[in-house]
Amino acid sequence: MKNEFYLKVSRKTFMTQNALELEFEMPQALTQKFQFVAGQYITLCHDINGQEVRRSYSLCSAPSSQKWSVAIKRVSQGIFSNWAHDVLSVGDSLKVLPPEGRFTLETQNNDTNHYLAIAAGSGITPIMSMIQETLTKSPKAKFSLIYGNQNQTETMFAQNLNDLVARFSERFDLVSFFSREDVPGARFGRIDNGALRHLMSQQLAGTTFDQFFLCGPEAMIETAKTTLTDFGGTSQNTHYELFFSAPKESATLASGQSTITVVLDGVSDTFVIDKETPVLDAVLAKDLDPPYSCQGGVCSSCIARVSEGKATMIKNQILTDGEVEEGLVLTCQALVESDAIVIDYDNV
Ligand code: FES
Repeated sequence: MKNEFYLKVSRKTFMTQNALELEFEMPQALTQKFQFVAGQYITLCHDINGQEVRRSYSLCSAPSSQKWSVAIKRVSQGIFSNWAHDVLSVGDSLKVLPPEGRFTLETQNNDTNHYLAIAAGSGITPIMSMIQETLTKSPKAKFSLIYGNQNQTETMFAQNLNDLVARFSERFDLVSFFSREDVPGARFGRIDNGALRHLMSQQLAGTTFDQFFLCGPEAMIETAKTTLTDFGGTSQNTHYELFFSAPKESATLASGQSTITVVLDGVSDTFVIDKETPVLDAVLAKDLDPPYSCQGGVCSSCIARVSEGKATMIKNQILTDGEVEEGLVLTCQALVESDAIVIDYDNV
């Protein structure tokens, strides 16, 4: 049975000129299926110009609120985001895949952690869910947020964050960066190494953070990961999610063809694949129904196991070295290297 469901849009609110929030009506029968942990995303699907387009969006509502909301920023040339902004209406039904994702914060009632999140632009969406869930569910937990944007008018969730600062002033603080507007009380510029180092060693000096959550463009994440190692960040307590889908690189590692066997939902299919074609593309072209969403190596929904043969990923920012060693691949990024390969979606 396909793991896809139709949900009705119950609210569409513009929070800035180019960013909207969609809330979905959740039928009682699906609440269990759509339970989520703060930081997870859902995948929205729609046929546009005769082709199914899928995009994953982080849930920005708190899990305990029993609301399911996503925020969508308009991307120039973005087929789905432009359709959602211009055409999608309240009352429309959308095909939606249930929550997934490994970038999560699961807080408990007795949580005493102090969390630090660093977000830029639409990278704030999973962090919003984490902040709201932590502050409302865990009375002893604290949250600090460093949030970068170009200017105030394009800042997503600006009002919601100010409300949270006012409501939880003892347990939540916000440092805003604006790269194109000088705003009193905020930092001017990008969240780069120098600015972050200064902030951590001055304004946030003396605060011990237990966990770090980073979400935004790759350059910001790489900078923050490196800088935070001097302030308690380790590979265990620093979690991150890239928030962009870079175009596929054209580098081809091998040429020719290979025989591929795909194990999916207990059924095996064997066919020939060009070594230049990513595994996911070939599997979709065979009309099989593998899990996938972003097709850009960002979301992690397309993971499968190479149980025989060899594949190399064009890029991988998600799987750990250990996971790659044990044979896991992002199939949207995987190119086959061996002359025969078995890709198992059922054993991950
Ligand atoms: S489909 Fe998103 S990482 Fe492969």
